[in-house]
Amino acid sequence: MKINNEFKIGSSISSWQYEGEFDDLKENYMERIYRLDKENWFEGYGPQHGCDFFNKMEEDVELYKKLGLQSLRFTLDWTRFIDDYDNATVNKVYSEFYMRFVDLLLENEIEPIIILEHWDLPGVLYEKYDGYSSQYVVDLYVKYAEQAFEFFNGKIKKWLTFNEPIVIPELCFSQAFWYPYDVNLKKAILWMHNKNVASARAIKKFRELNIEGIIGIGGLNVEIVKVKDETNLEDVKAGEIAKYFFEKKFLMPAVKGYYDYEYLNWLKKEGLEFYCDEEQLKDIMENTVDFVGINYYHPRRIQSPLPEDRTGYGKYFSDYHDSNVEMNVDRGWEISPETLYDLAIKLRDEYDNIPWYVNENGFGCVEKEKSRNKNGMLIDDYRIDFINRHLYYAVKAHREGCNCFGYHTWSVMDNLSPFNAFKNRYGYFEVELENNFKRRPKKSAFYIQEMILNRDIELCVDKSKYEKDEYEL
Ligand code: BGC
Repeated sequence: MKINNEFKIGSSISSWQYEGEFDDLKENYMERIYRLDKENWFEGYGPQHGCDFFNKMEEDVELYKKLGLQSLRFTLDWTRFIDDYDNATVNKVYSEFYMRFVDLLLENEIEPIIILEHWDLPGVLYEKYDGYSSQYVVDLYVKYAEQAFEFFNGKIKKWLTFNEPIVIPELCFSQAFWYPYDVNLKKAILWMHNKNVASARAIKKFRELNIEGIIGIGGLNVEIVKVKDETNLEDVKAGEIAKYFFEKKFLMPAVKGYYDYEYLNWLKKEGLEFYCDEEQLKDIMENTVDFVGINYYHPRRIQSPLPEDRTGYGKYFSDYHDSNVEMNVDRGWEISPETLYDLAIKLRDEYDNIPWYVNENGFGCVEKEKSRNKNGMLIDDYRIDFINRHLYYAVKAHREGCNCFGYHTWSVMDNLSPFNAFKNRYGYFEVELENNFKRRPKKSAFYIQEMILNRDIELCVDKSKYEKDEYEL
């Protein structure tokens, strides 16, 4: 199947997972939870390490070029880009670093796509105002966005407001798997809403300032909900509630300009309603997105709530693991490439065929003991299979009239994840922690290089042809 020229293949990186140490005096939300909960981060690695991008940026761009990447999504760290949050003054060193990066990408004909937040709320705004619980923090986010728009205006043609806006509310305050392990679903829902308001208001500002290009939100984790037993009313009810969160929570306001009415009623009934005024609803309604970025890793299987699972959303639904499905065991995630196709059809048919792209999709696993060829190259055939099948369904959807304009993997390099740190690896390039974070291509790097060059994809891939003896791309 031919990949049309307008369909772009790229990859995504993020600030605090890549950069390394910047300024001791300021910490973002992730640096803060690392400091306060260090013992739960695998082998002690944290955001102070990133994967040494600050020192390896030029070298990395050369590697992107060698892979043939057509676009590269990066995130800007609000905490680092701005010095004084109240007055939104831009940090010279950090902003110039990213300007050099953007220029280098452009010189190498790689389109930069920028995202303005990836869980990097300034820690001090969390401490002083409880983060996105506060309207003032929403205002400060918009001020920051304005500075970023003006700083990069003309160079960036695609902008995004938030990456995975659900993750911190969900993992810190609803399911509370992450520090501060504070179960407070009402707060989680308020944060989600205020991120919708902040996104709409940043979009409003973007348009008022006549910034070049288009703007959206993403990556939204739209996790298509699959109910355990469609004939069991309790499971179906649980599935409907799960859909509010995993399918509609951000997508509906972003694309349609309003929330699901039944969701609002349900919140009220449960005493979970959030503060919301006319002005906010008007801004959400009038500032819908030009496009969305979707982070797709796995579908979400749901059943009625289990008795042992009664915290956060657990009161309303539980996850369900189907023992017959294909799994990425290390990560505990189901592998379901066809679901990406279903998601594309949903966006086409239920969301006005909004333009979108896969902003993140990838395979993370423990690679320490995995096989290597005689030159020591990591043979990550599982990653080739994973990427090939997901890319295939994105391309198929594109060819069938879905407005999907591209596919980005998570990620180019192995990098740091929250808590798991470097335990699971995600990159086309292995990062050798004990060897000054040296990058070495894995077999999947040769796969994507050829795929981008030949632009022809089938569901089954002959992996033997990427078995290289030499070690240079
Ligand atoms: C996030 C990344 C993270 C990855 C693996 C994605 O959903 O956007 O930041 O590293 O998951 O956990």
